[in-house]
Amino acid sequence: MAKAKSAFVCTECGAEYRKWQGQCTSCREWNTLSEVRLAPARPGAAPSAGGGRSGYAGGVSRDVTDLASVDLTEVPRLSSTFGEFDRVLGGGLVPGSAVLLGGHPGAGKSTLLLQTACKLAQERASLYVTGEESLSQVAMRAHRLQLPTQGLKMLAETSVETILGVAERERPEVLIIDSIQTMHLEDIASAPGGVAQVRESAAALTRFAKQSNTVLLLVGHVTKDGSLAGPKVLEHMIDASLLLEGGADSRFRTLRGQKNRFGAVNELGVFAMLEHGMKEVKNPSAIFLSRSEEQASGSLVMVVWEGTRPILVEVQALLDDSPLGNPRRIAVGLDGNRLSMLLAVLHKHGGLFTGDQDVFLNVVGGVKVLETSADLAVLLAVVSSLQNRSLPRELVVFGEVGLSGEIRPVPSGQERIVEAAKHGFTRAIVPRGNAPKTSPPGMEVVPVDKLADALEAL
Ligand code: TYD
Ligand code: MG
Repeated sequence: MAKAKSAFVCTECGAEYRKWQGQCTSCREWNTLSEVRLAPARPGAAPSAGGGRSGYAGGVSRDVTDLASVDLTEVPRLSSTFGEFDRVLGGGLVPGSAVLLGGHPGAGKSTLLLQTACKLAQERASLYVTGEESLSQVAMRAHRLQLPTQGLKMLAETSVETILGVAERERPEVLIIDSIQTMHLEDIASAPGGVAQVRESAAALTRFAKQSNTVLLLVGHVTKDGSLAGPKVLEHMIDASLLLEGGADSRFRTLRGQKNRFGAVNELGVFAMLEHGMKEVKNPSAIFLSRSEEQASGSLVMVVWEGTRPILVEVQALLDDSPLGNPRRIAVGLDGNRLSMLLAVLHKHGGLFTGDQDVFLNVVGGVKVLETSADLAVLLAVVSSLQNRSLPRELVVFGEVGLSGEIRPVPSGQERIVEAAKHGFTRAIVPRGNAPKTSPPGMEVVPVDKLADALEAL
């Protein structure tokens, strides 16, 4: 029998080495190399491109092709039966692709995929492999969620070899593995969940998906800091990596693309976890906006752009006299460094000093805002709390704030204003570059150039 070879792979960046070393020379992290047994080539197995290495893109062809003559007939995408899921995938599931669904325990990965699988199984051969829960647990959940259970093939198994054997026989169009951290290959000595097992198991499953044109959905757990537990190396292999987020304290879950070979990333899907499982939220603005009738200072609605659509979210600021020499700046759902920068701009160009205040900032509904269009709304919410002055409920704000106090335009200004008007807002403070020639009916648009103008317009 051929001797099993091993390599060392950095769990941070995926760089490979033949020998162990203390520091990864590629990403400079210490103690991140871990041993990976390269599975010995099995007799009779088709020779793969990288010898014993497994992983990377699908079929191997030795002939070169002119790019222009590559067959362009689009593969039809399968709908996942959830519009929001399809949106994040870039239009649906692509046959022969591997999609990783990551999230914290309890985020709802199993629930979402079980719902998807049960509905898909009505039309297409689907196989759901559970390595975490027993078949009766899954069956009970499906029953409780009143899902159609006819047609969905189930398998409680953690051995990749066995799963692939069953998959060869059943030929499912959709294969779901819950979760990749519980899977193991017999050739590899280390424990399930370790880098070597996860990487090689995912590689074997991905290879199967590409060769048989199956949709592969992998569940992956993430660590506290939000990265996929163990191997970053997985990210090279799969076609799309999606992250399901949402705290235990909130009903809402957001699904975001982190990598997608078949569509744009930064598309956001919104779900609610209800008694009957995950329900998609088609109009996210409506939920993030459900505010109390009471007027309060420090609260303001902004329009952020998520992928291909605008979403209205509320941002709240609370400023309080700090007992500390070094006041706190805490931002939930926004970048903390950006908050510090904005406070400096507010002092320098708005003349408002917050250096003796603790500043807390929160984006309501657990939304993470990655866009600079939130700047102006953040500052105005801060001012509102600082001056203990509540802002009109019908006011909406967006715009980027520059270091010299200028308000810069952001992409898709028109659409943002229209979305706000649709939700009954009547006044918008926006960068001058985003002001439309004619405002939507019922909306007063206040264009501003400088921070001082915005403070005046409040
Ligand atoms: P689950 O899908 O098991 O999470 P994951 O696979 O990501 O670990 O979801 C578990 C959580 O969802 C659990 O805390 C209970 C909650 N839940 C509901 O609120 N309603 C439901 O209908 C279901 C099935 C789960
Ligand atoms: Mg689960």
